[in-house]
Amino acid sequence: MEINVPFSRFQLCCLVILLCFPYIAFASGNPHENFRQCLTVNLTKDTSISQAVHTPANLSYSSVLDVSIQNLRFLTPDAPKPSFIITPVDVSQVQTVIYCSRKYGLQVRMRSGGHDYEGLSYLSGSPFVILDLVNLRAITVDAGNATAWVQSGATVGELYYRIGEKSTTLGFPAGVCPTVGVGGHFSGGGYGMMLRKYGLSADNIIDAQVADVNGKLLDRKSMGEDLFWAIRGGGGNTFGVVVSWKIRLVPVPETVTGFTVLRTLHQNATSLVHKWQFIAAEELPHELYMRVILQSRNGADGNRTIEAFFEALYLGEADELLDVMGSSFPELGLTREDCIEMPWINSTIYFAGFSGQPLEILLNRSSNTKSYFKYKSDYVKEPISEPVLEEIWKWLIKADQGALQMIWNPYGGRMSEISESAIPFPHRAGNIFKIQHLTSWTNGSVEESAKRISLIRSFYGFMAPFVSKSPRSAYINYRDLDIGMNNEFGNTSYGQASIWGTKYFNRNFDRLVRVKTAVDPSNFFRNEQSVPPLTSW
Ligand SMILES: Cc1cc2nc3c(=O)[nH]c(=O)nc-3n(C[C@H](O)[C@H](O)[C@H](O)COP(=O)(O)OP(=O)(O)OC[C@H]3O[C@@H](n4cnc5c(N)ncnc54)[C@H](O)[C@@H]3O)c2cc1C
Ligand SMILES: *[C@@H]1O[C@H](CO)[C@@H](O)[C@H](O)[C@H]1NC(C)=O
Ligand SMILES: *[C@@H]1O[C@H](CO)[C@@H](O)[C@H](O)[C@H]1NC(C)=O
Ligand SMILES: *[C@@H]1O[C@H](CO)[C@@H](O)[C@H](O)[C@H]1NC(C)=O
Ligand SMILES: *[C@@H]1O[C@H](CO)[C@@H](O)[C@H](O)[C@H]1NC(C)=O
Ligand SMILES: *[C@@H]1O[C@H](CO)[C@@H](O)[C@H](O)[C@H]1NC(C)=O
Ligand SMILES: *[C@@H]1O[C@H](CO)[C@@H](O)[C@H](O)[C@H]1NC(C)=O
Ligand SMILES: *[C@@H]1O[C@H](CO)[C@@H](O)[C@H](O)[C@H]1NC(C)=O
Ligand SMILES: *[C@@H]1O[C@H](CO)[C@@H](O)[C@H](O)[C@H]1NC(C)=O
Ligand SMILES: *[C@@H]1O[C@H](CO)[C@@H](O)[C@H](O)[C@H]1NC(C)=O
Repeated sequence: MEINVPFSRFQLCCLVILLCFPYIAFASGNPHENFRQCLTVNLTKDTSISQAVHTPANLSYSSVLDVSIQNLRFLTPDAPKPSFIITPVDVSQVQTVIYCSRKYGLQVRMRSGGHDYEGLSYLSGSPFVILDLVNLRAITVDAGNATAWVQSGATVGELYYRIGEKSTTLGFPAGVCPTVGVGGHFSGGGYGMMLRKYGLSADNIIDAQVADVNGKLLDRKSMGEDLFWAIRGGGGNTFGVVVSWKIRLVPVPETVTGFTVLRTLHQNATSLVHKWQFIAAEELPHELYMRVILQSRNGADGNRTIEAFFEALYLGEADELLDVMGSSFPELGLTREDCIEMPWINSTIYFAGFSGQPLEILLNRSSNTKSYFKYKSDYVKEPISEPVLEEIWKWLIKADQGALQMIWNPYGGRMSEISESAIPFPHRAGNIFKIQHLTSWTNGSVEESAKRISLIRSFYGFMAPFVSKSPRSAYINYRDLDIGMNNEFGNTSYGQASIWGTKYFNRNFDRLVRVKTAVDPSNFFRNEQSVPPLTSW
């Protein structure tokens, strides 16, 4: 487990590279100039390419680099910077970037929305290029057939908006935060408030366009079912650049209902959270997704309490929802006044915290408030007892107000019906809920970062007995390098990669390795947590 302050691993990597390969440092102009010429030669008739190439000499470089970085821990002058940022406006430019990067030994980090928790889409210890898909974000909704093609650079907010323009009875199961990029999100699974009804985003993908390691453009038919399986949850930056996805849209009623109900310890939060574990996944209808957000707060009397927010989406009207809650969870005391009826598209801004704003907020790629953060994930298969809940509350209360939060996301429903091997994402039947452990902060000092990271690691240690074991599972879209990393040189051992690999993919890890070995044996597409090919062991 890494115990250093943030960035240290990247700085270390840079140092090792410089020591081992001094020619990169001393002759860096040449490979870079060759790379640039390669782009130019291959795209002679493409006048837009010069507008798509940003080097540190361009004024645009910093703003293009920084704009989509969500985790402020990695938005610092001493973070490793790319030699080039390429923002293709055409798929052929993606193919050329792959060809030229490979030829001139530059690593590629592809970026769609930039939400990677550990910054892997824009940081590398090796000389690298960011292939930023921000300008490839076309969305074509075919409401009649209930399908859509969406390019990877689109955000889920843009996708929701375009669906909403065409239909009031279609939706798509994807993330709660509108600025999340489709490219990374679908590559790691992707879930939101319709998880229990329709599963993950990746469960609803029916075709894709992928540029492979040779720069060849493949669709589902030409890539074959193994690669098509792997890209639906097997992690980004591993099998190729997914340029575009064809998705199956899902039916939603004209009116859905949302609520957010707060209960503190004085309002029986402990027994409510305890009971929630027995109904949220197993008993409630698939149409109801009720998650719990937990944190501590200083009361007016100076006493610290626990706040449990029960936040839910019901795919139906309030009267029905009140019946369901009255019979399954009367203790919560949900009232008609708590319930907000709205179209599904409005529910996307409600859960994103933008109620009352125009729907166009979904198109705003900068609407998310950036912060410093470290998040981790866990899966729970046995309900947590009340005495253990009390122990958890002590941790939340002991931390500064709000410094430690948890989000409990119920599983069950559709998630339990899909087999563990249908796509690489393995966390299906048997999981009651997933925990997201969070600490986020605004003070950028090294001391504060160290304190927060140490806090969440200790808390994660405390939670070990109460969550999944062998492996202690994790969600790849909640990327966490504490659970294991590849080394920079591609000579990662099977044992080393399988540590983090089985946590994210369980028994699907081996099939992912086989697919990777077939499609990218030289491990060109790689990062600290990409599935390695057999040849690199
Ligand atoms: C504020 C916030 C809210 C979130 N909310 C949710 C949520 O509600 N539900 C949920 O499931 N997750 C959520 N996440 C996690 C999110 O799903 C992941 O961080 C996801 O990987 C982000 O995708 P991206 O394109 O924005 O990120 P990026 O950082 O661009 O990419 C993430 C990874 O995918 C790779 N990648 C990017 N584009 C491509 C591509 N076109 N082809 C292949 N690989 C690619 C990158 O190299 C990187 O390894 C949230 C994250 C944040 C920061
Ligand atoms: C970056 O600078 C080069 C050289 O001046 C120029 O050709 C290119 O168009 C610039 N890129 C952008 C995006 O402006
Ligand atoms: C790029 O140019 C080289 C040499 O001219 C050529 O061999 C290669 O096929 C081209 N690649 C692409 C993707 O256009
Ligand atoms: C479904 O898609 C096909 C092919 O694009 C199109 O011809 C047809 O009109 C669509 N059906 C409906 C109901 O829109
Ligand atoms: C808390 O639970 C007890 C017993 O289950 C009940 O009597 C009491 O009314 C509840 N309090 C609140 C505020 O719901
Ligand atoms: C605050 O905490 C003290 C000590 O636990 C307790 O005696 C008191 O009743 C609490 N105040 C309120 C308003 O709950
Ligand atoms: C949906 O949201 C939009 C934008 O905030 C708002 O104008 C509209 O009144 C909302 N519709 C309903 C039925 O709540
Ligand atoms: C997008 O949202 C951010 C943050 O709320 C805001 O500052 C910015 O003005 C918005 N941009 C547009 C184009 O509305
Ligand atoms: C940030 O944290 C450091 C160390 O914990 C502290 O010294 C400093 O005063 C803090 N800065 C702000 C603005 O709170
Ligand atoms: C990996 O490869 C690098 C570079 O060749 C070498 O220095 C290092 O010792 C290798 N590590 C292992 C674990 O084999």
